[in-house]
Amino acid sequence: MCGIFAYLGPKSNSAQIVLEGLKKLEYRGYDSWGIACRRDSGEIVIEKHTGKISDVSSLKKELTEEPAHIAIGHSRWATHGGVTDMNAHPHASEEKEIVIAHNGILENYESLKKDLIEKGHKFVSETDTEVFAHLIQENIGEGFEQAFKIALSKGAGRYALIAISKNEEKILAARRGSPLIVGTGSDEYFIASDIPAFLKYTKKVMYLDDDQMVSLAKDGITFTDLKTDKKIEKRTIIIDWDEKSAEKGEFKHFMLKEIMEQKMTLTRAINQDEEKILEVAQAIKTAYGTYIVGCGTAGKVGMVGTYLFSHIAQKHINFMFGSEFSSFLPFMKDKSLMIAISQSGETADTLEAIEEAKKKGVKIVSIVNVETSTMARISDIVIPIKAGPEKAVASTKATTSQLAILTLLAYACAGKLDEGKRLLVATASQINDMLNPRYENYIREIAEKIQNVESMYIIGKDLNYPIAMESAIKLQEVSYIHAEGFAGGELKHGPIALISKGTPCIAIVANDETKAGIISNATEIKARGGYIIGVSPENNSVFDFWIKVPDAGMASPIVSIIPIQILAYQLAVLRQNNPDMPRNLAKSVTVK
Ligand code: F6R
Repeated sequence: MCGIFAYLGPKSNSAQIVLEGLKKLEYRGYDSWGIACRRDSGEIVIEKHTGKISDVSSLKKELTEEPAHIAIGHSRWATHGGVTDMNAHPHASEEKEIVIAHNGILENYESLKKDLIEKGHKFVSETDTEVFAHLIQENIGEGFEQAFKIALSKGAGRYALIAISKNEEKILAARRGSPLIVGTGSDEYFIASDIPAFLKYTKKVMYLDDDQMVSLAKDGITFTDLKTDKKIEKRTIIIDWDEKSAEKGEFKHFMLKEIMEQKMTLTRAINQDEEKILEVAQAIKTAYGTYIVGCGTAGKVGMVGTYLFSHIAQKHINFMFGSEFSSFLPFMKDKSLMIAISQSGETADTLEAIEEAKKKGVKIVSIVNVETSTMARISDIVIPIKAGPEKAVASTKATTSQLAILTLLAYACAGKLDEGKRLLVATASQINDMLNPRYENYIREIAEKIQNVESMYIIGKDLNYPIAMESAIKLQEVSYIHAEGFAGGELKHGPIALISKGTPCIAIVANDETKAGIISNATEIKARGGYIIGVSPENNSVFDFWIKVPDAGMASPIVSIIPIQILAYQLAVLRQNNPDMPRNLAKSVTVK
């Protein structure tokens, strides 16, 4: 949610470097973008616009005509203030003496702004961010670094902030809740919300933790703990990321590439450190209550987890969305266990739930994709899903890998880890047969048929009830068709009133004891004129269109969601939406 990137080093085309790097962060926000560079004369020049940075091939000549060794940039997901050029970052104080970019929310900006206006500061945007620029300016008499610290001490909320000054050749940055990573090259420094921004230049990184700041200058790098105001040492970590894995390659969109990658990613997820899976299973067995927490798609995966543990290990597990967690905090004891699920490992609502639980002494297990994320770093045990970079906003390959890990854990809890592994290995091989152009074209046929509908519904039961809800998320976010997922049995208690002639309804039908019930729900919909798309291992006379999936037993959620991911993708393309960057969304939701 908002991407930040900055460069300081020997290259004099810093604005161009930031432009290229920011393009790799566009998944974090694509309402507007902006770059500021500090010319060697000290003058700071800014260019900012609404729209996507990926469409930009060159910068205004003011940013490139003179040597500039320092630049900062930002791609925005709007929170405070509409999507306008003026509200785009970077923001500046009067005379552009201080220029900043910011990811997150400055919660007390209204009172700070009022105070600054009374002191004579003139604001030009509607953003919370601009307050920081004026706040630093207000105290600049104390020196750039001290003024930056004063501004941070006055600001409330979760954010990452970078600032440059007309008068000093340095970049200052701080984090409290939103990610910031420093990359170090030879005599040059990068700082970004995510590693792909600078992966082309260096794989050496240092992580900023909460309430820490960093100063990047020609003569070196200094980290400070903002609570104690003491200098701190940071470990350099070498990232083993491959730049190519974060590229689209032969695919038109990341979303399709990532759907297709599930051939490999599921196998990688299954190939876990067995000792760790058994350790977590043991922790679940002995915990005073286990609570799964996640948001959005990761939340739906967590809900599937409650069914998996019930069926496979006869164990009751609780689930809450990160944003709803605080209501259940009183039940958490120091012997409770939290399992946090997240692709990015940076989702603010999930992080906040972890932080609250940690205060009560709860042990934290996280199932994450980004192994270097905040979540991974603050957890007691990390189970990496190893899906590789997921760039499309809609989660696909991370989803099936997270499902696989929960399936393994449930089997391990029941003392049947080998059985679970065998099931998942067989499922991975069936997925391999499924993900081919023929299957994709077949699903395109139904996408063409329903591309102009206004609403569609998805029903599922048991393990596939949360998958019906996850299907709705996929369809909503990229096709913009109104979609809702229900437990099949719930339909007759209200939502069936929404069905009219031709309303598409996807019925997810597993080949198990739930089949009769969900087929009967589909029949009820058909009787009201609904058009039934069955996702099932076997055809049925109630289906108007059948999408075949393997018969995968407890892995049914994994195989059932894949054709719906493909359908959502096809619908997005047919409706001329960009599936990688759906409107109003961002990949990593680092605000509450
Ligand atoms: C939907 C989607 C989101 C995320 C949610 C949590 O396709 O991707 O609903 O699942 O924002 O994100 P992570 O998994 O990064 O915590």
